[in-house]
Amino acid sequence: MIRRVLAVETSCDDTSVAVVEADGRVLACLMAGQDLHHARFGGIVPEIASRNHTHHLLPLIEETLARAGMTLADVDGFAVTSRPGLIGALLVGLVTVKTLSLTTGKPFIGVNHLEGHLMAPFLKDENYSAPQGFDFPYVALAVSGGHTTLYRVDGFGKYRILGRTLDDAAGEAFDKFAKRAGLGFPGGARVDRLSTVGDSKRFDFPRAMLRDERDDMSFSGLKTSGARLIEELMPHDRDELKKQADEFLARGSKDPVPGLLADLCASFQEAVVDVLCARLFRAALRENVSRVVLTGGVAANSRLRARVETWSRQNAIIPAIPPLRFCTDNAAMIGFAGIQRLNMGEISPQALRPEPKAPLDKERTGGV
Ligand code: KG4
Ligand code: ZN
Repeated sequence: MIRRVLAVETSCDDTSVAVVEADGRVLACLMAGQDLHHARFGGIVPEIASRNHTHHLLPLIEETLARAGMTLADVDGFAVTSRPGLIGALLVGLVTVKTLSLTTGKPFIGVNHLEGHLMAPFLKDENYSAPQGFDFPYVALAVSGGHTTLYRVDGFGKYRILGRTLDDAAGEAFDKFAKRAGLGFPGGARVDRLSTVGDSKRFDFPRAMLRDERDDMSFSGLKTSGARLIEELMPHDRDELKKQADEFLARGSKDPVPGLLADLCASFQEAVVDVLCARLFRAALRENVSRVVLTGGVAANSRLRARVETWSRQNAIIPAIPPLRFCTDNAAMIGFAGIQRLNMGEISPQALRPEPKAPLDKERTGGV
């Protein structure tokens, strides 16, 4: 029986390490972000991500153990994201955990990153635990910079993909739009903040595929429409937009003020949120589940959270929306999923390789 693991997540640009217990309790979870390293390139540069992981990982492991008041002797095994993700980035975490496993003689398990996101609602710490009555089955929307997928989750290892984006992830759409609007990268959270003072009805952005019977989504039309609208602004409006963006950034992305930029952000955000909510709500009713989950970086979006909470209340549905620290890429969710697998008797071999692509519904689950 594995009671506690040290978990490592390096699938993209954030390095994260956690100590997690079998009931979901997070004893420590630390993260070293890299946004500043990638911002000037306007996107994530895989080589830079890998190099930063190698710099951050070992000190972060030491620091996380120290925060949990533990040493390697106090954990029973290790969990690491081994799929999907950037191959070089995954490799850093995987090689490190394999080494820890070899030197301590304790087992390790490679975890699918998406399984971690889907299990995030079960994590708990002094400030969060899942709402009363939360359990399987549920419909989950995993929405981030890399993925936008709707799942039906019937139990641990029992995942069915209901629908997914056919092109861009919702977070990617937010980020590309933010960049065009002069808000830098990654700009999803800035769009969110500006939207709080914007008029979401001022600009009419497309909501693709809403009448489609399938649960799939599309955001590339919206992305293009956002880019075109900004390009086609009259010169004085374009100057005004740039001025408002520069001033907002100069204020440290705080204290948003109403105006063209805020209206653009609010209108764009409403279109993304409309599509995500339409898919999630319809699927939850059709699948006849009484719980929904929002997870992934875009689950931080205040408008999306509010819409899901309100709708859930009106429809007697229990919404589980983990706090940002458990929604974005973090090692705690990997540790929780890993412990479940280890306790089902699954152990990864030293020969385990990282996999850049790994759809969750293709996962085999030992013991289930
Ligand atoms: O899960 P995450 O940290 O990393 C990925 O796996 O992608 O998600 C990051 C994404 C970025 O696209 C970021 O712009 C978006 O989540 N994001 C937001 C908000 N906070 C983060 N998008 C909209 N509103 C937010 N408040
Ligand atoms: Zn993720």
